[in-house]
Amino acid sequence: MRIGELKYRDESWDYRTADTKEYTHCFHTYPAMMIPQIARRLLDSYGVEGEWLLDPYCGTGTSLVEASLFGMHSVGCDINPLVRLIATAKLTPIPLGTLDSELKKLNDTLFQVEFGVDKIPDAPIPKIPNLEYWFSQEAISYLAYLLDCIKRIEVQAVQNFIMVAFSETVREVSFTRTGGFKLHRMPAEKLENFHPDVFGIFRKKLNRNRQGLAAYLEKRRDVETSICSTNTVDGELPMPRPIGGYNLVITSPPYGDSHTTVAYGQFSRLSAEWLGLPNARKVDKLAMGGHRTGKIPAESPVSSAIEKIRSVDEKRAYEVTAFYVDLESSINSVVKTLAPRSTICYVVGNRRVKDIMLPTDEFVVATFAKHGFSHKETIVRNIPNKRMPKKNSPSNIAGRTSTTMHEEYIVICQRTDQTCP
Ligand SMILES: C[S@@+](CC[C@H](N)C(=O)[O-])C[C@H]1O[C@@H](n2cnc3c(N)ncnc32)[C@H](O)[C@@H]1O
Repeated sequence: MRIGELKYRDESWDYRTADTKEYTHCFHTYPAMMIPQIARRLLDSYGVEGEWLLDPYCGTGTSLVEASLFGMHSVGCDINPLVRLIATAKLTPIPLGTLDSELKKLNDTLFQVEFGVDKIPDAPIPKIPNLEYWFSQEAISYLAYLLDCIKRIEVQAVQNFIMVAFSETVREVSFTRTGGFKLHRMPAEKLENFHPDVFGIFRKKLNRNRQGLAAYLEKRRDVETSICSTNTVDGELPMPRPIGGYNLVITSPPYGDSHTTVAYGQFSRLSAEWLGLPNARKVDKLAMGGHRTGKIPAESPVSSAIEKIRSVDEKRAYEVTAFYVDLESSINSVVKTLAPRSTICYVVGNRRVKDIMLPTDEFVVATFAKHGFSHKETIVRNIPNKRMPKKNSPSNIAGRTSTTMHEEYIVICQRTDQTCP
């Protein structure tokens, strides 16, 4: 169904029944993950084997994994250290023999602890504020012991692989409520009967991920991949640059600031703290819209919506503005790394604030247009699979929720000027 000249709804992009957990895509959940089918289809249309793909907000690396299966080299950036670890593990081709021999050693050790002695050996417990609020004493000792074993693994790639399974285990055995991404403790009546089998959960994740890796190894092409911690809002991007620039961007930036949309940092915090990753508590502040401010020009596609928000809530208007200022800076930085004739595919959500819809898709088109990109098309798809809050309170009136972010926009633009990076 056509919505505008270049904007149309196409249900064939919904992938309602598709398996989104093939290959290493099964490794770890994360909020608002891109589904691999979208990246795959965009690569089929715009990718060229041997060329370079960039994902400036790569999260767990969905488009990077797909690029490696397609035969494109890739670089991904993210400010969240946990997803950098996950993306790295998903992309690393560990020989199965090496992995299996390390997994066997680890399994044997855990087996001895489970069935040999009655008490779990002491292991250093990381200094995490409020640890007992989020974990039972039993879970803490099991996790501490596991982590100690993992840290002894000498092959870095294998250690990363196992840390990813550990990270998901941390979340699952914690007292956090399931079903959301913010850190909320489960209700008291649930806590009493919550006795997760830490080693069992961990083993299940390892087995699942090992199967995913085996499938990935069969199809992965011989390409270069790299993940960096660059905050893409910050001007020059200090990351590997292919000669001539990146040819293709396939990415999904945040829908808005972490505070009022998806709290990537809160989702990752407990795992990141157990693993001792840097900035474990700072991710949401570092993310787009986290702390900056500035102005959106009157002619911007989002400015009239922001003015309407301002008329009812000045603070929300300020937060929304901060996000778009950062998104624009980030696009300005990304553009500097792109090749002439490059294509960008930004998968975005048009969220509502105070019941007012913010046309992020048009904002992306307009921002790239300033750099000589022409709008090719925008495909509107429903989100059946993504892990998103289906309800929120766009009006911020308690109890008044509405279905939100049930669709997203795949914005495709092509560079038509001849500017070299
Ligand atoms: C929608 S998620 C990406 C999900 C990813 N496509 C996947 O499949 O896992 C957006 C990501 O943007 C990252 N992010 C937010 N602000 C950023 C910034 N200024 N620079 C780089 N990454 C940023 C967040 O940490 C988050 O991981």
